[in-house]
Amino acid sequence: MDMQHKCHPAWWRQAVIYQVYPRSFADSNGDGVGDLPGLISRLDYIASLGVDALWINPVFTTTGKDNGYDVSDYYTIQPEYGTMDDLDELIKEAHDRNIRIIIDMVFNHTSDQHEWFQQARISRESPFYAYYHFWPAENGKPPYRCGFFDSGGEAWQYNEATNSYYLHYFAPEQPDLNWENPVVRQQLYAILQFWVAKGMDGFRFDAITFVAKDTTWPEITPAILKEKYGNDWGHYYGAGPHLHDYLKEMRREIPSPDILFLGEAPGVLLEQALDFDGELDLITHFDGMTIGYVTNEFKKPDPAGYCRAAFKEIYTKWSDVYREQGWGTLYLGNHDQPRMLSRWGDDRPAMRSASAKCLLTFLLTMRATPFLYAGDELGMRNIRFTTVDDYRDIETHQVYQQLKAKGGDTDAFLRDQQVAGRDNGRTPFQWSAGANAGFTTGTPWLRVNPDYVSINRDREEKDAGSVLNYTRRLLRLRRENPALTCGDFRVLNDDDSPIFAYARSVKDQTIAILLNLSGDETLYGALLSEPSPNNILLNNYPVVQWTRQGLLLAPWQALVFVC
Ligand code: GLC
Ligand code: CA
Repeated sequence: MDMQHKCHPAWWRQAVIYQVYPRSFADSNGDGVGDLPGLISRLDYIASLGVDALWINPVFTTTGKDNGYDVSDYYTIQPEYGTMDDLDELIKEAHDRNIRIIIDMVFNHTSDQHEWFQQARISRESPFYAYYHFWPAENGKPPYRCGFFDSGGEAWQYNEATNSYYLHYFAPEQPDLNWENPVVRQQLYAILQFWVAKGMDGFRFDAITFVAKDTTWPEITPAILKEKYGNDWGHYYGAGPHLHDYLKEMRREIPSPDILFLGEAPGVLLEQALDFDGELDLITHFDGMTIGYVTNEFKKPDPAGYCRAAFKEIYTKWSDVYREQGWGTLYLGNHDQPRMLSRWGDDRPAMRSASAKCLLTFLLTMRATPFLYAGDELGMRNIRFTTVDDYRDIETHQVYQQLKAKGGDTDAFLRDQQVAGRDNGRTPFQWSAGANAGFTTGTPWLRVNPDYVSINRDREEKDAGSVLNYTRRLLRLRRENPALTCGDFRVLNDDDSPIFAYARSVKDQTIAILLNLSGDETLYGALLSEPSPNNILLNNYPVVQWTRQGLLLAPWQALVFVC
């Protein structure tokens, strides 16, 4: 028997994981903030999509500086999201619908309001002082590190009571935990044990590649950063010592092979992809997120041609790296990204539906575990705020402040945020054409995209040709055809045409996927004969245009057929 064609037993290799940002999904009590009871009331909808697992962003007690990524107690629920009973109910109700639950674990840092940090910052004598990274001020200023969400761009913050600086890779309110301290690691593992006992099916470890630090604190000069880390602090932060020892140790704490360990892996390069084997079951890399952006400047959309080439190249590489070993992931949007459709598709009315369907076809037919971000199944779009006050995201505000202080071009930044800002992906879910898109009866914490009048779940539910119903068909196809989940992956055209053509195959079945990643009609000349209508599994257009030269794909046409 050909082992390669046998589906691997790990549940997540066949799964589609649906990501919900609870704050923006459904508000049950009119305070304008999405919550657990709201989410529970929408589980039937989630089940109707045909997804296998649900990943929710943090709902633990938080100071709310970074919407839950600043946890002040990992054992309790933030009241605005609900109660522990609600969470227990969510787990039970999801399981009743055969949906597994994955929860976010933010272990690189805590909130500055966490009891550990509150103790740590009082005195050097406190046992909690060693829970964090401090630099004694008598040694002068610490070597520069970049703080992503810091208004001065610095990762060290002076703390008066201890006369020392503490490290924060993100906001000053998010001090980094000291993983070199074994007591800290034990505390974190105890949190995992608690949530496994509650019935969690997996964890998404936030910024997990950043936990290991070189505590000799070497000087990282701009020259070193450029030469060794491609001018990217993420690459430096993701390459700390002992990372793999820590991860192996953490995995040993939860030996059950059914509990998914998913790591958010900023800074990880393709060459490092397999280093996590036996530690994290899946990692999410960031290579795809750089497509279309020029990094380290104002991120400007690149010419479309470059995007398509990069798309094909990057995702083929990341598929091939897992050919023999390990398993990949694929996402086109999440709570840290603008809307997939506005970024790589064409969100204007004429092409919105076709290009959303094309991108979803890509997401759900590659050889990797796909993450479907709530709202992408409706073809939701960027909101494109015009003033800084519209934003709620700490990142947007901090970078804006940094820039203002330096006398930089804040208008250009705001234009850029219309493309790249994280709040674009966080606007409330559009349930209906009713007030506030049916998200809340109160005032939403972040403005609802005014396009909800035409783009909403109710409307798409009734339309057989909607993005929503197309997504459901894609998910059904995956369930019915193992080639689309565990099959091999092979690129069919390596030319520079805007078409991305590939095949997925198991022993007795090959499925071809042709995607026209452009708004132009494009010829695909490599087919010898017209695919028979019986063989076409999915087409986001009503017809196939066969010419003497080959298949003529309409703008953003996606075609899936058995060969
Ligand atoms: C991760 C989260 C992001 C958060 C950051 C700091 O990247 O996805 O939302 O701001 O970590 O915790
Ligand atoms: Ca609420």
